Amino acid sequence: MIKQIASLGLAAALSLAAAGLSRAEDAHETPKPPEQKWSFSGPFGTFDRAQLQRGFQVYREVCSNCHSLSIPFRTLAEPGGPEFTQAQVKALAAEYKVKDGPNDAGEMFERPALPSDKIPYAFDNPQAAAAAIGAYPPPMRVLAKARTYERGFPLFLWDIVTQYQEQGQDYIYAILNGYEEPPAGVTIDPGLNYNKYMPGHKIAMAKPLSDDQVTYADGSPQTVDQYARDVVSFLSWAADPTLEERKRIGLRVMIFLGVFFVLLLYVKKKLWSEYDARVGIPAH
Ligand code: HEC
Repeated sequence: MIKQIASLGLAAALSLAAAGLSRAEDAHETPKPPEQKWSFSGPFGTFDRAQLQRGFQVYREVCSNCHSLSIPFRTLAEPGGPEFTQAQVKALAAEYKVKDGPNDAGEMFERPALPSDKIPYAFDNPQAAAAAIGAYPPPMRVLAKARTYERGFPLFLWDIVTQYQEQGQDYIYAILNGYEEPPAGVTIDPGLNYNKYMPGHKIAMAKPLSDDQVTYADGSPQTVDQYARDVVSFLSWAADPTLEERKRIGLRVMIFLGVFFVLLLYVKKKLWSEYDARVGIPAH
């Protein structure tokens, strides 16, 4: 009997190990994006203004050639974001032309953009972009929230404790840095590129960033790594513009609950000590 149980146990252990192995192989297929440090992670995290401004620059000079963003210029001046000045936003908008109309003659016309206009990108709509590029560039407004990957057991439990919620950011950062030569024996069709972190490894977007592509005015490193960190931070803000406010309120609630808890303890002690005194239980 004991022997039988032991062999059953052994079989179970072996099949578990096998399952673990095959999972490890899958993981090898598309590696998990490594966790990055983000200034805005955790309960006290905030955005770095200068980084958001640089990230917007990268979006504007590189990504907006294909991806839409769909936020109005004026949000770039709102608290909790890149916090450009109103004057900067006005000047920035005026650099763009947008279609408006129809006018009295029933015709569409072009005018300089206003802060209330959406930041334009290279195409009028995603269909036009897809037709020109050969693949559909996903809209960027909520990309940092929408793109994610399975963290799997037990990581997802640990994530609750550490409040890790930057899967989308880590994923986009990994994609931007994940272009490689395809391994021997892997052929990539024309129009596709090999990317270590893209599920299936084939991505229609050509490597969008290279060193020294964007000139920073603040002396930050002009590397793919830095561009990727900056643009991902910017996209995080675009996807979650009230992050800072929410974290601030959350913190106040926690402080309030803490104070409230101490008060309750005190009141409870006080009430019960009076009761104890009345019924003659000595103080402890
Ligand atoms: C030349 C056009 C082009 C440029 C420039 C470009 N992209 Fe893309 N991007 C695409 C296309 C097309 C896809 C769709 C790829 C696919 O489905 O295989 C894509 C997909 C993506 C994805 C999604 C990958 C996924 O999981 O499906 C991310 C993230 C992304 N781009 C980020 C960026 C960032 C950040 C920039 C700017 C630094 C940028 N892209 C610049 C064309 C572009």
